Parts: sequence; C-alpha cells; structure tokens
Amino acid sequence: MANTEDKAPSKENKSSWKDSIYNPRTGELMGRTASSWALILLFYLVFYCFLAGLFALTMWVLLFTLDDYVPKYRDRVPYPGLVIRPNSLDISFNKSDPLKYAQYVQHLEKFLERYNDSAQEKNENCISGEFYLQDGPISMVRRACPFRRALLSFCSGLSDTNYGYQEGKPCVILKMNRIIGLKPDGEPYINCTVKKDHPIQMYYSPNNGQIDKMFFPYYGKKAHENYLQPLVAVKLLITKEDYNKELTVECRIDGSNLRNNDERDKFLGRVTFRVKVVE
Ligand SMILES: *[C@@H]1O[C@H](CO)[C@@H](O)[C@H](O)[C@H]1NC(C)=O
Ligand SMILES: *[C@@H]1O[C@H](CO)[C@@H](O)[C@H](O)[C@H]1NC(C)=O
Ligand SMILES: *[C@@H]1O[C@H](CO)[C@@H](O)[C@H](O)[C@H]1NC(C)=O
Repeated sequence: MANTEDKAPSKENKSSWKDSIYNPRTGELMGRTASSWALILLFYLVFYCFLAGLFALTMWVLLFTLDDYVPKYRDRVPYPGLVIRPNSLDISFNKSDPLKYAQYVQHLEKFLERYNDSAQEKNENCISGEFYLQDGPISMVRRACPFRRALLSFCSGLSDTNYGYQEGKPCVILKMNRIIGLKPDGEPYINCTVKKDHPIQMYYSPNNGQIDKMFFPYYGKKAHENYLQPLVAVKLLITKEDYNKELTVECRIDGSNLRNNDERDKFLGRVTFRVKVVE
C-alpha cells in the first residue's frame, strides 16, 4: 500500500513535466490551447504589420520632404576638400618604362575627357573673375561655364600625350570637391610645396594656379547638370638629382577664406602626396 502511494506522486510529476510540453487530456501545447496560440500569433502578426507600416510611413514622409536640388539639413556651407588626379597619393614610376606610368597617363586621359571641347559645346562663356550668380526658382536649370582642357597647357594631354611622365616631370591635376553654394572670398589659388631643403620648380596652369570665381557657386547635381569643376594642373619639374628620392608634396588652396590647415582633417583645402621618379 505504502509502495503504491509512494509511486503515485512520482508518476504525476513525470506526467506533469510531459504535460508542460503537450497535454493530451486538455489538448494544450506548452500550457496553451490551440486557439490561445492562434490568438497570440495573430496578435504578433498584427503588431509587426503595424510596426512595419509605421516605419514605411515615416520613411515615405521623410523622403517626400527631401529635396532633389539642395540637401535639406545644412546649417552652413562647409569647406571643400582638395583631391588629385591621378587618383593616387603615392606616384612612383620609372620614366624610361612606359608600362610603369601608363596607369597614371590613362587615368588623366580618362579624367580629362569630360573637359574636351566637344563635351562642352553646350556651355556658354562666362565673365572671368566674377561669381556666376543664377538666382531663381530652385528647379531652374543653371548654366555651366566652360573649362577647356587646353587651359592646362603642358598638362592638357593635347601637346604632350604623356603628361610629362616620359620626361620625369609629371603632371598632377588638382580639384576642389563640389560644395553647393560655396563662394570663396579672396582670390583662391593652388600653392604646392615640397618638404625638402631645396625647392623644386613647379609650373602651374592656368594662370599660376588661380581658380576662377566664375565657377562658383555650384547649384547642385540636378539644377547644375553640366557643371564642371575648375582644375589646376601642377607640373613638377623634377631634375636628375632628385631621382630615386621620395618627394613629399603638399598642395593647398591659398589666397582665400577656404580652410587649409585643419588639424583633424588633412584633406580640407589641402592634399599631401608622394612622388618618386626613377630612371
Ligand atoms: C627603368 O627602366 C629601364 C628600361 O626598362 C631599365 O633599364 C632601368 O633599369 C629601370 N630602372 C629601375 C630603377 O628599375
Ligand atoms: C577628348 O579629346 C582627346 C584629345 O583630343 C581625344 O583623344 C579623345 O578621344 C576625346 N574624347 C572624347 C570622349 O571625345
Ligand atoms: C606657398 O606656401 C609656402 C608654404 O606654406 C609659402 O612659404 C609661400 O609663400 C606660398 N607661396 C605663395 C605664392 O603663396
């Protein structure tokens, strides 16, 4: 008797443990009936659909208020960065081996195609030295000023299709990043220096590295579709005694209010790259 009484509770314990997964008597699965589970699933389905709908609605409202023409959230006009072409901060080549500098020449050639006269036929002439202001409705199409690659003279790729790499006096082309609404004060120009005891001669074009104000302001990708950034080419007149040396060149935008000495951002208004020519 005592024996059976002893066994009974243990049997019950066992069955209640199993019941907690599935109880065949009540038909409950993990303590809930099928209809209870269905209600829970339905609740979560509706809940998540509601969340997804809310998210989609918020995104739609946000995108609807965004403008294709001008970025919406800007409190001030930022300063531009300076970049070089060819797109390498480490230009190193053997002037006697065309294969070693072909990548730089090809890159410059491709980059300058946009500046071909044929590509700029639709651009009108502007007044040099003055901002080209085109105020008007935000969606108005703005005209672009032409920048002819011939202005880059020795570095235009027209007279010297090797951009000076063959003679060991390579060209580097600098451009400022596009900033909507930027109107630099002063007369911006590019000034490059070599960190080295004796300086290296450089040849700037156009106009001693001046950046013409007629290329400002920029009105944005959509309104100013044909806009071309003004360029400055620098030809580094490296001589034989500087072959096999790694030269560090720093170029800055000088002569204007554009920042070029930010400690945290070393590409703000300036760029530093290395050049090494071997023979
Ligand atoms: C540069 O290229 C020339 C011709 O291919 C070769 O004779 C010369 O050794 C190369 N110079 C160096 C430093 O590799
Ligand atoms: C741009 O001009 C260069 C030099 O005249 C020429 O070689 C090149 O084919 C032209 N590119 C286009 C796309 O017209
Ligand atoms: C170019 O920059 C160097 C160093 O920053 C400076 O000494 C030189 O006067 C500048 N040249 C011009 C023309 O501004």
